[in-house]
Amino acid sequence: MNSPAPHGVREIAHDSPRYHETARARERILRQPLGRVLTADDTRDEPIQRHFILESGEGLLGGLIARAEGPKIVRLRQMWIEPDHARCGFGRHLLEEVLATLEREGIEQVMLHARVTALGFYRRQGFREDGPEFTEVGIPHRRMILTLSPEKRSPGCRR
Ligand SMILES: CC(C)(COP(=O)(O)OP(=O)(O)OC[C@H]1O[C@@H](n2cnc3c(N)ncnc32)[C@H](O)[C@@H]1OP(=O)(O)O)[C@@H](O)C(=O)NCCC(=O)NCCS
Repeated sequence: MNSPAPHGVREIAHDSPRYHETARARERILRQPLGRVLTADDTRDEPIQRHFILESGEGLLGGLIARAEGPKIVRLRQMWIEPDHARCGFGRHLLEEVLATLEREGIEQVMLHARVTALGFYRRQGFREDGPEFTEVGIPHRRMILTLSPEKRSPGCRR
């Protein structure tokens, strides 16, 4: 299948039309295959979380959410890529762009709960397992962490 050229990654506002599109995609891609729906618990704190999308001229290709866990720690959640365009490098592109943004902002550590089926994807981006397997939304997960390297952040005076 021919995949569309991605236009880019951008942050969108909570409650924008694009946000509601991502919520529908998250339900379809991340919940329905598990026989679940997106619950109020899933979305309750989303007004204060950050919403990133990858889009092409044809529409949304993927998204993920970033939630502050502390002044320099961010948790990523609900990452998805349109199944018709999986394994085309779009997930890597989206994650790399979001990590670069967080790094520029001074974030030092990024963590996430990875489905065991997606561990290899996150490992390729430098994440490492941290702790035992646990169950979330009825399926096995591992916590993963990535330490962002300070030397890659914008230069500053470090006396
Ligand atoms: C997991 C997901 C986000 C990956 O995005 P993607 O666009 O398919 O991944 P990419 O094509 O960018 O893959 C980048 C690299 O990771 C590898 N990879 C991708 N998915 C993988 C997986 N599930 N397991 C192991 N490796 C994987 C690719 O082979 C590629 O390897 P390379 O560096 O050798 O070329 C996407 O497939 C998806 O949305 N899956 C369903 C929902 C899901 O599981 N979300 C994650 C919740 S934690």
